[in-house]
Amino acid sequence: MDLILRGGNLPDGRTGVDIGITDGRIAAVEPKLAAKGRREIDVTGRLVSPPFVDAHFHMDATLSYGLPRINQSGTLLEGIAVWGELKPHLTVEEIAERALTYCDWAVAHGLLAIRSHVDICDDRLIAVEALLAVREQVKEHFDLQLVAFPQDGYLRAPNAVDNLARALDMGVDIVGGIPHFERTMADGAASVRALCEIAAARALRVDMHCDETDDPLSRHVETLAAETRRLGLQGRVTGSHLTSMHSMDNNYVSKLIPLMAEAELSVVANPLINITLQGRHDTYPKRRGMTRVPELMAAGLTVAFGQDCCMDPWYPLGSAEMLEVAHMGLHVAMMTGSDAMRACFDAVTVNGAKVMGLEGYGIAPGCNADLVVLQAGNPVEAIRLRATKLYVLRRGRIIAKTPPVSASLDVPGRPKAVDFRRVPGDV
Ligand code: FE2
Repeated sequence: MDLILRGGNLPDGRTGVDIGITDGRIAAVEPKLAAKGRREIDVTGRLVSPPFVDAHFHMDATLSYGLPRINQSGTLLEGIAVWGELKPHLTVEEIAERALTYCDWAVAHGLLAIRSHVDICDDRLIAVEALLAVREQVKEHFDLQLVAFPQDGYLRAPNAVDNLARALDMGVDIVGGIPHFERTMADGAASVRALCEIAAARALRVDMHCDETDDPLSRHVETLAAETRRLGLQGRVTGSHLTSMHSMDNNYVSKLIPLMAEAELSVVANPLINITLQGRHDTYPKRRGMTRVPELMAAGLTVAFGQDCCMDPWYPLGSAEMLEVAHMGLHVAMMTGSDAMRACFDAVTVNGAKVMGLEGYGIAPGCNADLVVLQAGNPVEAIRLRATKLYVLRRGRIIAKTPPVSASLDVPGRPKAVDFRRVPGDV
């Protein structure tokens, strides 16, 4: 074996597991592996996870915070306005440079797969050009998927219909949309139909910003589910945000969620962004805005959490740290039961991989040796501590490494250096 990680804990609860790696793939996962590795790392008691996955991001806008001005109100609409002011001044080089910087952060945090929407409403399509180049540059380090995203409306923005087709011709992977931003509900529904037909004709996946509003009557997800069934796209369509579901009438939702399950829709909630952008028209109480995550999970839908924004016109914070995303999602959804907390870890790992359709993802013989060793014993502890990523492996190669956090009060009779994560009595 090229490398063996000895004694790790797995997200499914197994402990003391050895993971053997050969030729970039996982060759064995078992206790006390007899084989010897050319290199061996003791990860006893550490959580070894497949890498973090961000199923919803905007890499063309990332790290542009303050350009050309700060979004002072913090609203979605001012963010779209600020982005509109910046767009004419963007260059391919600047977008690519900021995206690559974000990729560095991502790798350091064990985030090795990102689905990024890319705005196609600028006729120059320079964001598409930049991110296609970045996708090629980073492919050895992680998987970058691109969604053709008509930020200003597929039917509302001039040339968006042509630009979206051009972006797909250039090699963008997925068909996007934003039906709630079209001029009318009818236009929104028409955009969903047209975009799903494009995906069916080109054999592509769909991922739409859908109903990102507190308006409970924004029901484009219903059309998305219906079109998915009509066109036989089951399992290939994702509804992102779906924040209007937070405010919908329970009777309507009791019909809607089974329709979504029937269409095998995937869902991506974006906790950091939903909790800050939604509820903006409320006085008090202010709605949380995040979609109905536990209810959708209970109905069998794949639900992932996304970062969505990082230091851009919509969000001044963020760091490519998906445990922060899981932490916020857990709180906003009140998912504090033990299984529910573990489900929040899945929402930034395996569920995101399902949304993206990643092949070879997981910890089993034959899977890609893409792994993260955390300074935590289990998924819940990882979320609680936003744990340090001790090793990040891609195809069996260590591509990032961070020393464990430790501290000591230097009190006589106590150990000199205490592993940060340990609590009294923990062994
Ligand atoms: Fe988004």
